[in-house]
Amino acid sequence: MGIAPSPIQIDSNANEFISKPRKMLIDGKWVNSVSGKTFPTYNPATGEVLAQIAEGDKADIDLAVKAARRAFDSGPWPRMTASERGKLIWKLADLLERNVEEFATLETLDNGKPLTIARAADVPLAVEMFRYMAGWATKLEGTTIPLSVHYTPGANYHAYTLREPVGVVGQIIPWNFPLLMAAWKLAPALACGCTVVLKPAEQTPLTALRLGELIQEAGFPDGVVNIVPGYGETAGAALAAHDQVDKIAFTGSTEVGKLIVHAATGNLKKVSLELGGKSPNVVFKDADLDTAIAESASAIFFNHGQCCCAGSRLFVERSIFDRVVEGVAASAKKIRVGPGLEPNTSMGPLVSEEQLRRVCGYLESGFSEGAKAVAGGKKIGDKGYFVEPTVLVNTKDNMKVVQEEIFGPVVAAIPFDNPEELAPRANDSVYGLAAGVWTKDISKAHRMAAILRAGTVWINCYNIFDAALPFGGYKQSGWGREMGKDVLSLYTQTKAVCARI
Ligand code: NAI
Ligand code: MG
Repeated sequence: MGIAPSPIQIDSNANEFISKPRKMLIDGKWVNSVSGKTFPTYNPATGEVLAQIAEGDKADIDLAVKAARRAFDSGPWPRMTASERGKLIWKLADLLERNVEEFATLETLDNGKPLTIARAADVPLAVEMFRYMAGWATKLEGTTIPLSVHYTPGANYHAYTLREPVGVVGQIIPWNFPLLMAAWKLAPALACGCTVVLKPAEQTPLTALRLGELIQEAGFPDGVVNIVPGYGETAGAALAAHDQVDKIAFTGSTEVGKLIVHAATGNLKKVSLELGGKSPNVVFKDADLDTAIAESASAIFFNHGQCCCAGSRLFVERSIFDRVVEGVAASAKKIRVGPGLEPNTSMGPLVSEEQLRRVCGYLESGFSEGAKAVAGGKKIGDKGYFVEPTVLVNTKDNMKVVQEEIFGPVVAAIPFDNPEELAPRANDSVYGLAAGVWTKDISKAHRMAAILRAGTVWINCYNIFDAALPFGGYKQSGWGREMGKDVLSLYTQTKAVCARI
């Protein structure tokens, strides 16, 4: 289909990729859906259709799971040396790195984010994730364990553990970092020797499908990675429920996370979940205020607030409240909102009409309960899904805009009087994904880090991610940790071996 000619030169490989309907990857082949159906993916900057995508459903998921099952049970993948698996994952990272411009462009077209960000963050972070996990392939080890039992007098035992891949893994990912979420999921599963059926978000299937081509180019055996685009209620639900899937890994809303848990009960597959958040970002009066203000603005506005860890509750010590709010509001007003392909855009559109409606619904709800916007507060124009970066004040802790995940560029700024009063309010959330603390007092900083019920606490920084640093949620923000050494436990299981010698 291509996009309409525009004064902006877009990457020709990306344009070529969207010029054809895209198929799904099953058992090493690009195929149409069993039903023959397709669905459109849209450019959120214009609302126009970008490309048609094969629409996976139960029957396609079944074929993909069977392919992954064969690849795991009798294919070469789990039987290769760990070094050979690691090399393939590293090669995939190299191929991705060689195609940064194409991937960044596809991401911007499909998701809306600024091309400058996709190029500088999304694609390189995905490359880094594959590289980091490639190194783990050769380092998964068991232990030897001394036994103390004496069932039979004189008997001795040699006992050890094996760390084995969990098997066939279903992975369901969201649209906020489409390629990066695919990398977060695929890289550790492959490093551990699992085979995969990946379902990208229906809003943003393009980069995962293009990655599928690179997976073939790198030389992964057929069926090791299968990619089935489609809707959550159909393809996603079928994958979560499939009885030949050993483990399901999900990133998305807490609401759907609970559905995944129910769907997994049939065969008691293992489940890991990376869900929503309503993260407190706390600025104390002894912080370096210029930095705290600038970084607190990006804590919420980065990726248009479409981050599970967005600093969406900005707690500010009362004596500096006005100054910090003015500073964050001034940053919000300076953000250049526009199409992601425009070189001077710093914030693109929201991903979809549905998200635009959701975010505007939250704004209305906040205003009707007495919140005030000191910056932003409305949608922009009638073309594309743009909304103003918004700073709310005059909120109460029980308002929906303070309790619920908005997943848009909307922050509630909330004054507090002292750390003792703050802690229970900061922790007053069903979520516990991340938190920020700004202070020059190192004792206070570490005391807060201990008190905050969150999987990540950033001190004098925010949104710092690294392939080596575990990430995941307390409370209803999820089960398990992605990245770092921790994620390996999601994709392996321990076998105890005990021999009488
Ligand atoms: P969602 O949770 O519905 O979608 C995420 C993924 O789950 C997509 O691939 C979708 O197709 C799939 N899915 C949906 N229903 C499913 C089902 N019944 N069974 C299996 N898979 C299913 O999120 P949605 O609707 O796109 O966004 C709604 C809200 O969710 C956002 O406003 C935000 O608050 C939250 N969200 C959180 C994310 C995070 O990173 N934690 C990412 C995306 C959304
Ligand atoms: Mg949904």
